[in-house]
Amino acid sequence: MHADNRWFEARIVWLPMNALTDPLWVPWVPTRRELMDIIFSLAGLSDKDVFYDLGSGDGRMVVEAAKRGVKLAVGVEKNRELYLKAVKLAEREGVSNRVSFINGDFFSVNISDATVVYMYLLTRVNRLLAPKLASELRSGARIVSLDFEIPGWRPLQIVEARIAGMDRKLYLYVKGVSDPPMIHGLMPGIRGR
Ligand SMILES: C[S@@+](CC[C@H](N)C(=O)[O-])C[C@H]1O[C@@H](n2cnc3c(N)ncnc32)[C@H](O)[C@@H]1O
Repeated sequence: MHADNRWFEARIVWLPMNALTDPLWVPWVPTRRELMDIIFSLAGLSDKDVFYDLGSGDGRMVVEAAKRGVKLAVGVEKNRELYLKAVKLAEREGVSNRVSFINGDFFSVNISDATVVYMYLLTRVNRLLAPKLASELRSGARIVSLDFEIPGWRPLQIVEARIAGMDRKLYLYVKGVSDPPMIHGLMPGIRGR
């Protein structure tokens, strides 16, 4: 089965119209809190990091990264209601001074200052995001994707976890190591699939 079909299998009963007409539509499904320790430890999050969540939903990952002491945590979310929820959550949790929420399309936001990028999207969206990640991120930036791979990129690590009865997968990529020019032979010792 194609990985993108999992949403429809497991969770979606009612679909909004744009789910059928927009090939880049991604539903809002928040990251479960039980996964956060695994995600942040896989990313090797530290106080030097600038953390981005592409499609930040209600802002929980951004706020949590800020609470864990990153230099700056940025969320990009195109849904206005979710964006406003995120701003409120940051205020409630007292981290507004270390977060920035952008109400917009992540394809149009420059992410070149990110050192850690988190994505909980879909494989077909990751595929379209890959050139942006490759061109804007600095070498060594870490990307963690929940459940969906970046096609053509080589994960440095895959972590599997069973949470609330569901099998979850986390993919860790590193810019300059995982992306295609490197896996296709420019980097000694790493060979493409
Ligand atoms: C599966 S949810 C993940 C939410 C959040 N990252 C989390 O882990 O809790 C995906 C989110 O991405 C947002 N999204 C999808 N495409 C987007 C785009 N092009 N620009 C900004 N946000 C987008 C959706 O509105 C949705 O809130």
